[in-house]
Amino acid sequence: MIRADFSNILCKINWDNYKKSAEDFETWCENEKHNARGMIGWIDWASNIEEDYIANIEKVARSIRETYDVVVVVGVGGSYLGAHCAIDALNGLFPKDKIEVVYLGNTMSANYISQVLGYLADKKFAVIIISKSGRTLEPACAFRLLKDLLYKKMGANFKDAIFAITDEKKGALRQEVNQNGYVSFSIPSNIGGRYSVITAVGLLPMAVAGIDIRKFLSGVKQAEIDFANSSIERNPCYQYAAIRGELKKQGKLVELFATYEPQLRFFCEWLKQLFGESEGKSGKGILPISAIFTTDLHSFGQFIQDGTPCLFETVINIEKCDTDVILNNDTANLDGLNQLVGKSMHYINSVMVDSVVKAHADGGVSNILLTLPRLDETNLGYLMYLFMKACVFSCFLSGVNPFDQPGVEVYKKNAL
Ligand code: PA5
Repeated sequence: MIRADFSNILCKINWDNYKKSAEDFETWCENEKHNARGMIGWIDWASNIEEDYIANIEKVARSIRETYDVVVVVGVGGSYLGAHCAIDALNGLFPKDKIEVVYLGNTMSANYISQVLGYLADKKFAVIIISKSGRTLEPACAFRLLKDLLYKKMGANFKDAIFAITDEKKGALRQEVNQNGYVSFSIPSNIGGRYSVITAVGLLPMAVAGIDIRKFLSGVKQAEIDFANSSIERNPCYQYAAIRGELKKQGKLVELFATYEPQLRFFCEWLKQLFGESEGKSGKGILPISAIFTTDLHSFGQFIQDGTPCLFETVINIEKCDTDVILNNDTANLDGLNQLVGKSMHYINSVMVDSVVKAHADGGVSNILLTLPRLDETNLGYLMYLFMKACVFSCFLSGVNPFDQPGVEVYKKNAL
């Protein structure tokens, strides 16, 4: 399902050094499953998910699709990035779908919020509010404003247009659900925001956007099986985490997630949050940044090739594209492109991948290349699980808690 190419990492790794850690990690995961306060619920969630849970998401998604023109997904961080990433990756940036997906609750910008509210004023829209705690500032503000707008349009029926995803038992949003009777879905208490894309948090918005969530979950399930192998020699997920650790020891403190597909921009945003919030604590961690190639080769490509040697690259590559275009002949050939006549843009993009990997490796930039055969539901689910598990193993190796984010609270205390 995925090809991991570590031939350009520019460092030697002795897997024996990680043998015991990988075994200990598997044991730790197993123990955490039985820890009442553990947060490892995502690790085998897809295999244990109940049919009713999926069928209910599909049923509600169908009715949202049939009833509304726009769906507003309200959430921030782990409560929206997974859905945004999957919808862009699988539907593309200009989807010709009957329902439009808009995001709110991820910013405090009055400009952006006013623009979205203005856009929605004459639209028939539904709101999916996603917040585990129900008290996160950005989505809470947006939700209030959206409720006002819905009330103006629908009166007391405004509740029919609200779909809530929140903690199964506790929190402010669960209380509001109980009071107002919104249709709701639960986030299991042992799954945190940035690991929640495989629950209703990701699945409901995806299903509303017309994505086959069963195929997505089948990829996740396959990854659960493939990456439960405690033998590091045979587990690319653990190998990736170990390589990151080795590169960090060599002073590579920045991981550049790069893709050649603009529709994977939010995949990189999801990765940045996953690794940044899980790993970056107690003075530790690798700074995650991202780039869309070849676009960003014309902005900080110079730095990557030749600047301070602080980074390594993890490239998400797609082998086969779904739609392609062929370059035509032009008799004048003023741009000198006739040597490429008849070649497809995807072929040219693939040549770029190889050329850039080589150039960067020649410049001393270590490269991890992860190739998916196609960008589809199954492969995406598989890849997201790979990164989640690799991230938690990375945290295990460096001795930090992957599931908390104490640093994020500091600015909030200053604000309110
Ligand atoms: O990954 C996380 O835990 C965070 O990014 C949360 O998802 C984010 O802060 C939103 O929290 P909540 O769902 O409680 O609104």
